[in-house]
Amino acid sequence: MPKTKKPVVKKEIKKKNTVQQKTESEAPKLTKKEQEAKKLDKRRRKASDNWGLLRGMRDILPEDQKYWRKCLDTAYDITDYFLYNKIDMPVIEEAKLFIRSVGKGTDIVDKEMYSFEDKDGKKVTLRPEGTASAVRAYITHGMWNSPQPVKLWYMLPMFRHEKPQAGRYRQHTQFGCECFGADDPSVDAEIILMSYNFFKDLGLPVRIKINSIGDPEERDRYKQELITYLRTKRSYLCEDCKKRINRSPLRVLDCKREDCQPVIEDAPQIIDWLQEDSKNHFMSILEYLDELEVPYVLEPKLVRGLDYYNGMVFEVFYEDLENETAQSALGGGGRYDLLIESMGSNHTPAVGFSVGVDRVVNLMKTHLPKKKKDIKDREVDIYLAHLGKDARRVALRLLNELRGSKIKIGFNFFKEALKNQLEAANKLNVPYVLIIGQKELQDGTIIIRDMESGVQEIIDQQKIESHLKKKMKTCLPSGRKK
Ligand code: HAM
Repeated sequence: MPKTKKPVVKKEIKKKNTVQQKTESEAPKLTKKEQEAKKLDKRRRKASDNWGLLRGMRDILPEDQKYWRKCLDTAYDITDYFLYNKIDMPVIEEAKLFIRSVGKGTDIVDKEMYSFEDKDGKKVTLRPEGTASAVRAYITHGMWNSPQPVKLWYMLPMFRHEKPQAGRYRQHTQFGCECFGADDPSVDAEIILMSYNFFKDLGLPVRIKINSIGDPEERDRYKQELITYLRTKRSYLCEDCKKRINRSPLRVLDCKREDCQPVIEDAPQIIDWLQEDSKNHFMSILEYLDELEVPYVLEPKLVRGLDYYNGMVFEVFYEDLENETAQSALGGGGRYDLLIESMGSNHTPAVGFSVGVDRVVNLMKTHLPKKKKDIKDREVDIYLAHLGKDARRVALRLLNELRGSKIKIGFNFFKEALKNQLEAANKLNVPYVLIIGQKELQDGTIIIRDMESGVQEIIDQQKIESHLKKKMKTCLPSGRKK
């Protein structure tokens, strides 16, 4: 009988096993400490696998906080200057607020809202955008009684259950400004200017795309024309756009699919359907922008994806971005003169914008020139070192007492050895270190060590604040020596 292959395979496996056994036995044996560390690492990794993030959600880690802080500071600067007041609104609102304002048929309302029934059986929604909430706040608090216009701003998280991808998250933060009670085109220009200045101050060059979508009557007449045109081109459109022809024809103009582009390019333009008043309003905005030297491009196909707009609409894009997509819009806004009235209040013209801060931060990290990207982490002026448990107690007290002096003090009470603490101080590049040890504890004194010369002075703990202030005067505001 011819030999079957089976025993050969067995033999090979056996051979392999011996090799494996050999390499295993040759592998260096782990020490007890290493084994413990390996076990701990495995445990940590398992825990980390167990406690992952929800899809589309992310943590903003400490190393990125400096960019977020810069955005928030810039928002404060700009809004202070243009006299906008900060408002914070709840994360949850009644679902009907967004359905009514953003509109049925929009992606946000139809597909993306985090809506659920709360324990009282009320249909609620995690805020997908800020304008509706700001309008609700204007109505709720009777802000029509305040001198008009009422100017509000916010920097708040928004929630949209979108397909996550680069620059698109299910929780994102918007910096937004809303101006209620003024219909002059100068206010439209002010809003565009503020969004432009926000990017300018951050060192990001942007391009504004602007259009006017007219009032509802003008838009209706235009829609009829557009529907007639799109019907003749139906077979060239993507499946989504085919469905949009009758339901929301303007949204076809917003489609980013390549196959739809030739049809969109030849489509009638809304600007040709505007009446005298709308045209004049829009032209005045453009004149203001010219005067302010805000660069813009007319974008006749720009319609925005939310229902409440009328008249001027705009979007902000990073200037040097080669492949522009819907995800690359850094911000957008426009007029929404009819929204407050449609929610049952009086006619109140309004205009606003918001910026996607997550996208701005991504850009700051990748596109800012190196020098500008080096936004400083919190800088420390002086380091406070201690020697021993009792000294640590006094050091903590001193740390608290010096809080009002505005001198930024670095410390690490976790580090015991003075050598380690001085090393940490060195890394922070501080000009002086305060040292408190057993002797100083008894004498009520403290050592001030000049890190450059190594010279040490001993001073009374009571006089520490005035002494430090004098010393810091010879330093730059950040604490670095002249
Ligand atoms: P929006 O265009 O829907 O407008 O959003 C404003 C900005 O938020 C976008 O340009 C984008 O930068 C950012 N954004 C939107 N969705 C996401 C996402 N999933 N992930 C990351 N960033 C995102 C509004 O929301 C209007 N409320 C703007 C407005 C204010 N109109 C008048 N006043």
